[in-house]
Amino acid sequence: MVETIEWTPQGVVMIDQTRLPLHEEYVTCRNYQEVATAIRDMIIRGAPAIGVAAAMGVAIGVQHASEADLDAQVDAICETLAKTRPTAVNLFWAIDRMKRRYTALRGKPLAEVRERLIQEAQLVREEDIAINRAIGRHGAALVPDHKTVLTHCNAGALATAGYGTALGVIRAARESGKQIDVFADETRPFLQGARLTVWELQQDGIPTTLITDNMAGHFMKSGRIGCVVVGADRIAGNGDVANKIGTYSVAVLAKENGVPFFVAAPVSTLDLQLASGGQIPIEQRAAAEVTHVCGHRVAPEGTAVENPAFDVTPARYVTAIITENGVARAPYEESLKKMVG
Ligand code: MRU
Repeated sequence: MVETIEWTPQGVVMIDQTRLPLHEEYVTCRNYQEVATAIRDMIIRGAPAIGVAAAMGVAIGVQHASEADLDAQVDAICETLAKTRPTAVNLFWAIDRMKRRYTALRGKPLAEVRERLIQEAQLVREEDIAINRAIGRHGAALVPDHKTVLTHCNAGALATAGYGTALGVIRAARESGKQIDVFADETRPFLQGARLTVWELQQDGIPTTLITDNMAGHFMKSGRIGCVVVGADRIAGNGDVANKIGTYSVAVLAKENGVPFFVAAPVSTLDLQLASGGQIPIEQRAAAEVTHVCGHRVAPEGTAVENPAFDVTPARYVTAIITENGVARAPYEESLKKMVG
């Protein structure tokens, strides 16, 4: 399986997700500013992968920090990383975790602080893979056998440290012997489905059919979709789910057609302090992502554009939320709290 992100002596190495599937290239971020740029420019993307990148960003930042005013430097590193993308809560979760680790190391020699922060960032990465395997185990039982699973965006190995959340459920279902195949929404405007999900599933030999986003309803209505499994960028206390733009439409279509709609996400994606999805900040991205496809202009010059990168699916459309600690169902106010423990 593909390595999404790795800590190396040279720096933080990531597969460049803006270049896939035509070019398999790796980027080495040699300082925290380069990690921040990689997150903002979506060289690395997907909520858990962004979290791992941020943790490694803090660690690499401290490798270059000096003894004097170390606290202030750590604050500046964390602030820069926190400003990259607003919606995926895993970013802030990972920065907080690294900051707590740093605080616990106060007073230790700088060389030891540096080493321990590298270890912590690597732990965030390793834990993420284990968490995704656990999500897969819980989710595999929910996937109907001999059916097609529809997914939106890319919630796979590329969006995590490995294995994936939504695609982890699909992988685990197949590993358990279920005969399932996948329909991947292309996921305009950034084409995570067409470029990343199809590429990633092809590597694993999982039969995958690409459809454009506007075809999902047609295939649900004609009985071709057994269930939907998507990832999440942030889940509010009431079970409202922020995920890639277009997820809401898929969820409404699923409910209308009696198709189960599952969300697979680690507990680090839960933001239970938020009462509802209306409080989740939605990232607005550049107009060029909409006016252009893979660098080629498809709309006239001067076209007015809106480009929200995420939408919020109300909890009433969500059949279940699959986490590493089990499966939560409505009422989510209670069941999600139990997932956190
Ligand atoms: O803008 P992106 O590509 O970072 O958005 C990714 C998604 O919306 C994913 O579905 C989500 O982060 C879950 S990834 C396991």
